[in-house]
Amino acid sequence: MLSQVSPAFQFELIAQDGNARAGVFHTPHGDILTPVFAPVGTQATVKAVSSRQLTELGASLILANTYHLYLRPGSDLIAEFGGLHQFMNWHGPILTDSGGYQVFSLSSIRKVDEDGVTFRSHIDGSTHRLTPEKAISIQEQLGSDIIMAFDECPDPYDPKYNQKAMERTHRWAERCLAAQTRRDQALFGIVQGGVFPDLRARSAEFISSLGFPGHAIGGLSVGETKEEMHAMLEVVTPILPADRPRYLMGVGSPEDLVNGVLRGVDIFDCVLPTRLARHKAALTMTGRINLLNSVNTRSQSPIEEGCQCYTCQHYSRAYLRHMLVAKEILGATLISIHNLHVLLELMRQARQAIIEHRYSAFASNFLENYRLP
Ligand code: GUN
Ligand code: ZN
Repeated sequence: MLSQVSPAFQFELIAQDGNARAGVFHTPHGDILTPVFAPVGTQATVKAVSSRQLTELGASLILANTYHLYLRPGSDLIAEFGGLHQFMNWHGPILTDSGGYQVFSLSSIRKVDEDGVTFRSHIDGSTHRLTPEKAISIQEQLGSDIIMAFDECPDPYDPKYNQKAMERTHRWAERCLAAQTRRDQALFGIVQGGVFPDLRARSAEFISSLGFPGHAIGGLSVGETKEEMHAMLEVVTPILPADRPRYLMGVGSPEDLVNGVLRGVDIFDCVLPTRLARHKAALTMTGRINLLNSVNTRSQSPIEEGCQCYTCQHYSRAYLRHMLVAKEILGATLISIHNLHVLLELMRQARQAIIEHRYSAFASNFLENYRLP
């Protein structure tokens, strides 16, 4: 039997169209209309974008990282400020990742054992240890609304290691649940299992049996093909309980979002829109454009004709290109605003299409018109 979910974190399904879902996820800092894209604010800032700008963009959920904030400035310091919401002046819902993934992708030397992971900081080389209990205690100090179980995200193609890591991640998930002391945070379990359908099914069944108020799918968009990612989603989402939100971690691009929603995912996060903006690329509803391209030198057009974002309403491609060429930091802000708008707007349109039972046509139309990079 699934445990009762706290009323503070009820997930209401508003409409279903095929496997695509439209819902409302209630949290103590506000409602999240799903499907939703969460901008990434790794170090308690969505890079180059203020919280006022995030609010104007209609962002409802942002992500921050336990790994980074634990190392700098320290979760005890953030707790002195009353938590992450106060510290960073973002009063909407926040999701923190557990550090599991970042330890494996960022720290230099790391050693994993049954109890946890010992690693070297990527900032100053100092040695630290994260365990499931520690990851929960840090996230409790941060005070985010959604907290993540401590997991391991291995090379998706190694079958023996994936089985071992998955089984350990399952034991860690139970320890995370036991370690949780705050009732005003929703702890999500994470499904792993690489590119192996049998492991994915076992993981989805086990994690679902623990009664988490929401479920994440980890270990994807880490080097596998799009076909493999879609196949794993098709194995996992039918097993996850329909009455709880599903979060596909670290994904992704506009086409990944449309494909994820089609397969029953509700929540996404990715650095792509803000990272691309700092690398001078703009996302549009039909593909990516390089703003440095000389065709934009005298262009009076906005990044995207018809776009309702602040940047497109007020600035030309020529001005944005000038910001980039002159290395003016406003360029990163203005392009980030546009890129975030594209993914937030894409999810708003997807939600409307689900409610109107035309998501399948919406998705095919989007994917046909989208030029892959
Ligand atoms: N972010 C992207 N993928 C993952 C994953 O597999 N686990 C965690 N904790 N975070 C992620
Ligand atoms: Zn725009």
